[in-house]
Amino acid sequence: MSQAYLQCIACGARFASNSGALYACPTCGDLLDVVYDWDRLDPDALRHCFRQRRLSDDPKDVSGVWRYRELIPFYDDERQIVTYPEGNTPQLDAPRAARYAGLSRLTFKHQGYNPTGSFKDNGMATGVTQARVLGARVVACASTGNTSASMAAYAARAGLLGVVFIPEGQIAFGKLSQSLDYGALTLQIRGDFDKAMDLVRDVAPQVGMYVLNSVNPFRLEGQKAMAIELLDQRGWRVPDRIVVPGGNLGNSSSLGKGFKELYDLGFIDRLPHITIVQAEGAAPLYRTVTSHETSRLVTVYARTLATAIKIGRPVSWKKAKRAMDWTDGWVTTVTEQEIADAKAIIGRDGIACEPAAATTLAGLKRLIAEGTDTPINKDEDVVAILTGHVLKDPDYTVRYHLGDLYEDYVTETIVTHRSEKIQSNYPNRPVEVEAEPAAITAAIEAHLARVAAE
Ligand code: F0G
Repeated sequence: MSQAYLQCIACGARFASNSGALYACPTCGDLLDVVYDWDRLDPDALRHCFRQRRLSDDPKDVSGVWRYRELIPFYDDERQIVTYPEGNTPQLDAPRAARYAGLSRLTFKHQGYNPTGSFKDNGMATGVTQARVLGARVVACASTGNTSASMAAYAARAGLLGVVFIPEGQIAFGKLSQSLDYGALTLQIRGDFDKAMDLVRDVAPQVGMYVLNSVNPFRLEGQKAMAIELLDQRGWRVPDRIVVPGGNLGNSSSLGKGFKELYDLGFIDRLPHITIVQAEGAAPLYRTVTSHETSRLVTVYARTLATAIKIGRPVSWKKAKRAMDWTDGWVTTVTEQEIADAKAIIGRDGIACEPAAATTLAGLKRLIAEGTDTPINKDEDVVAILTGHVLKDPDYTVRYHLGDLYEDYVTETIVTHRSEKIQSNYPNRPVEVEAEPAAITAAIEAHLARVAAE
């Protein structure tokens, strides 16, 4: 079996993969990768094997992560594997969204169809497996809501205690409800996500908690499987571009690692451009990449209604930047208005997603309109990753359609200084009608006439 190590992304120092709860290089403090001394792998034979496993009922084969286990070989014993199962998320054509962005076609890979409704489940399958390998009893994370929902579920499935640190009042209710139901100790921190992240890293060693944020390289191994599954579903045709929202930047990091490994191992012969989209008020990577000093993170005090990506000091920024460098990628920003409208358009294709996920379409539209150094061709084969389910944050959706969506303008020192109204450019207002047939018929006819005129 291939041999796994932890390796520092900066100084290259290597450590055994089971050397305890290690989230940073003991030599220089930088981020760690899980790396492998690969056994001889035969891409054709493995591609065939991955296909064959779709006929199996073994949970490891059913999982859209562990089906690809030869490419994630960090455990010693298959009995340690934790799976829900996760993955197997659909790729959906989105003609309406493609037209909106100015593309001739667009595909969404919808990670909201995971068991807890977000892409985090892929990563928890491997992160919680490693917790088991290490014999951890308690797992912890800071979260804007999806990591906590996912970790709470996977911890419960694996018989571990989950402890989640969430910024009080700043996560969507759907996500809060999940960690409560899954039985995690839910600590509502009086501070933002970045503060919660600092605290979890401070406290974890003192109480023996294994941290499952994306600073944990084993979590990224599961998220890497999204790249493998996506290619498997497409008959290994590499898309020209992959578009992802950027928050703590674990997802872009893991996709970069996934595609690069597949390239190095001979599964694919080119890399898709990884394109990261951040909310304008929470764009530390964009600000860093466009600054003069790209070796130091430009931190921000984050603000956005897309609470999932309301992050000012992303832990994985160096790996995300590396993914951009490897793939000739790009990072851009979008406004609150652009996110809200793009979300409504994604809904019109019968797809729908949570606000952070809609940054992908908004970002594509902006890049096509504004151009980049490596211009996006309108006939490109683009896959955008929808990271979370629409039901995670119904409050946002209903407010948009009612014309009642506001962003409180908040800075580090001033809370609710003023409110910005988000325009509902693609509203679908609920219609109040009397409980009688004539009124209902009139409402339907008025609606049909409006649709015909569009
Ligand atoms: N989209 C959704 C729906 C998310 O929940 C997140 C991150 C992102 C995008 C950004 O991904 O952090 O890998 O760059 N949510 C984390 C959480 C931070 O705690 O749930 P990223």
